[in-house]
Amino acid sequence: MFITVENLKKSYNTGKNKSEVLKGISITLEKGQTGVILGPSGSGKSTLMNIIGGVDRADSGSIYVDGLELTVLDDDKLTDYRRDSVGFIFQFYNLVPNLTITENIEVVSNISKAPLNIDTVLRAVGLEGKKRSFPRELSGGEQQRVAIARAIVKNPKLLLCDEPTGALDYETSRGVLSLLQKVNRDFGTSILMITHNTAIGNMANVVYKLRSGEIVETIRHEEAFPAERIEW
Ligand SMILES: Nc1ncnc2c1ncn2[C@@H]1O[C@H](COP(=O)(O)OP(=O)(O)OP(=O)(O)O)[C@@H](O)[C@H]1O
Ligand SMILES: [Mg+2]
Repeated sequence: MFITVENLKKSYNTGKNKSEVLKGISITLEKGQTGVILGPSGSGKSTLMNIIGGVDRADSGSIYVDGLELTVLDDDKLTDYRRDSVGFIFQFYNLVPNLTITENIEVVSNISKAPLNIDTVLRAVGLEGKKRSFPRELSGGEQQRVAIARAIVKNPKLLLCDEPTGALDYETSRGVLSLLQKVNRDFGTSILMITHNTAIGNMANVVYKLRSGEIVETIRHEEAFPAERIEW
């Protein structure tokens, strides 16, 4: 198994109250597969993803990613894991405004162990013509493509996407989802994606439904749909 999360728990202290945000989450994902986490706002999706990405820590339970047990790593080792193995994509692209597209990607490739060639990555996301442009000169969908290029240039084993189409219109969203499927296919990258949108679950091998910090249903699809065929 590529990802194994077992009985993961996380609470936050807010003043006097302790609120349990993850109440014993268990999920698995095979290598090269796409998993989608579906759930309403506040159900703990980002918290779960951040812990799997090594950005945050759980209170108890265990997480293995490709054989590495994250929950026992010290801070330095967890940083190594995050840098070497995980690519992040967010709803708002988080590009650096005063750097060109190429430079935005170089920020990551320069600190990567075995980065992909920048031109290869730009070609993969269909932006080879925008190398010297600045983020403000690109549409939202194009900026998200840059964010995807930046996330995959380090050739991560795992791509974590938190509402990657949350700020995009329908057609642009399908383009971005289709691109993520292409990355999954061409580079063998396993993908874990958060969405509010039930239809997007159809492009996943596994859908985890989260409600108030608990997995209420896990649906495994025999066939993952191409993003172009998904309608909502
Ligand atoms: N640093 C924090 N301190 C205190 N509470 C937090 C913190 N981070 C998250 N929470 C709480 O944990 C709960 C789950 O948050 P989380 O961001 O994981 O939800 P989500 O499912 O990603 O929601 P959304 O769809 O709105 O992004 C929320 O009630 C939130 O207020
Ligand atoms: Mg969230």
